[in-house]
Amino acid sequence: MKTYIVGNWKLNFTVGEASIYLHKLLKAMPNYRDIEVVVAPSTIALQPLSLQIDRHVMKLAAQNAFYRDFGAFTGEVSFSQLRSVVDYCIIGHSERRNILGESDKMVQKKVAAAIRNKITPILCVGELESERAFGETRDVIRDQLIGGLGEVSDDELDKVIIAYEPVWAISSTKGARAAGLEDISDAVILIREILDEVYGKGRAKDIPVLFGGSVNSSNAGAYLALPGVDGLLVGGASLILSEFVDIVKAAKRVRNE
Ligand code: PGA
Repeated sequence: MKTYIVGNWKLNFTVGEASIYLHKLLKAMPNYRDIEVVVAPSTIALQPLSLQIDRHVMKLAAQNAFYRDFGAFTGEVSFSQLRSVVDYCIIGHSERRNILGESDKMVQKKVAAAIRNKITPILCVGELESERAFGETRDVIRDQLIGGLGEVSDDELDKVIIAYEPVWAISSTKGARAAGLEDISDAVILIREILDEVYGKGRAKDIPVLFGGSVNSSNAGAYLALPGVDGLLVGGASLILSEFVDIVKAAKRVRNE
């Protein structure tokens, strides 16, 4: 399995800034065959950046899309419209769940729409700080995972990537609230247990599980060295050229160890 390093640019950069940043990234990024580097700019930048990107070096992801392919859905962009533009789509990010009110049901339909349109969904799951405080972490992960994969058939499971992102560990400057290695290990084991339970024993080992939440070039290596962590979903640090490149280099180092 490849190691996935996904940069989530969130609501940052104008189209022009995104294009300049991509240009610099393409020049600086080492090209490792066993590492899949993906960047997720805002929707408006996807189309022009798809003409600029070198897909041998990096791939594009959308940060969100709508689950119906066409119709009267004002303001939405569909997976079918993104089909030839991106290879991946982040789905069910905690900011969409908690700020935009996205439900497990919507996430489920989006995962199905992505697969239908040959876009690899990166399904995000993770508990809020309050849920963690009440000891609900395992239930939340279970509900979000089973909910999100509700329309994914046995044959389709290997088209999915899962990302564990504890909400309390996202956007913490300088990693002050970064998740402990044990928390991450427990969650990744649980995710694979649930996948095996639902899809049959042995299926989960081939499904990439990523970790996200205040990842930077100093902690990336430790996260990636955890058994069962197959990559990273990087927010803030993916906006800094040297940080993002160093995270990719750390991934290569861990693979070579
Ligand atoms: P962060 O964001 O790395 O800035 O914490 C991660 C994410 O939200 O995907």
